[in-house]
Amino acid sequence: MTRASLEKQPSEVAAMFDGVAARYDLTNDVLSLGQTRLWRKAVAAAVGARPGDRVLDLAAGTGTSSLPFAAAGAQVVPCDFSLGMLREGKKRHPGLPLTAGDATRLPFKDGAFDAVTISFGLRNVHDTDGALAEMLRVTRPGGRIVICEFSHPTWRPFRTVYTEYLMRALPPVATAVSSNPDAYVYLAESIRAWPDQQGLAARMGRAGWSRVAWRNLTGGVVALHRGIRR
Ligand SMILES: C[S@@+](CC[C@H](N)C(=O)[O-])C[C@H]1O[C@@H](n2cnc3c(N)ncnc32)[C@H](O)[C@@H]1O
Repeated sequence: MTRASLEKQPSEVAAMFDGVAARYDLTNDVLSLGQTRLWRKAVAAAVGARPGDRVLDLAAGTGTSSLPFAAAGAQVVPCDFSLGMLREGKKRHPGLPLTAGDATRLPFKDGAFDAVTISFGLRNVHDTDGALAEMLRVTRPGGRIVICEFSHPTWRPFRTVYTEYLMRALPPVATAVSSNPDAYVYLAESIRAWPDQQGLAARMGRAGWSRVAWRNLTGGVVALHRGIRR
């Protein structure tokens, strides 16, 4: 069984997702107590894709996070570096142009997209700052970024309960529903180690994104960060 360490070696991360691909979407729904669907709707609203828009959904996994953009009539390109996740995605969504690519060396031209988005992916990328810079490169001037990622609950008592829930409940529940429970130990650890809302916004600014702002979902369990390429 594969579990990536917090060093996030790309080969370990890809192998870990290869291993959970078959049950990934189901496990997500169970562990998030159904919140995933609400978070995906919020991402779709924040991206605001219109028919004909070119949208990159980076770290798209099985492509589930790309579906709202396709439904809006955009030309969405789901991209991921786990061939296992892409294979599973191809079975489920044969119409999506699933593309193999590493977030830190994207196989796209400068300014190729009107919008770039990444859901529950940036935390797993070995070089966060490199990925933020690559996303900027492939976005056209005036285009936008939306990042959906686990974050830090803002109300302290809730944050404490949540951290306990994560660390204690996640691995046993994952044992029941996931093909690789160890991957969910990594999930809990990586969420704790991830920067808070302000910290991620600062990194986006340093990578060159303008007008960076965020919105908390589920009390800050998840945050949606957005920005514009000037
Ligand atoms: C938790 S899944 C998210 C999938 C999807 N976006 C969703 O919301 O369901 C994270 C994905 O990030 C991908 N990933 C991690 N590091 C990556 C990298 N450097 N380049 C491309 N994809 C990467 C993994 O392969 C995995 O499929």
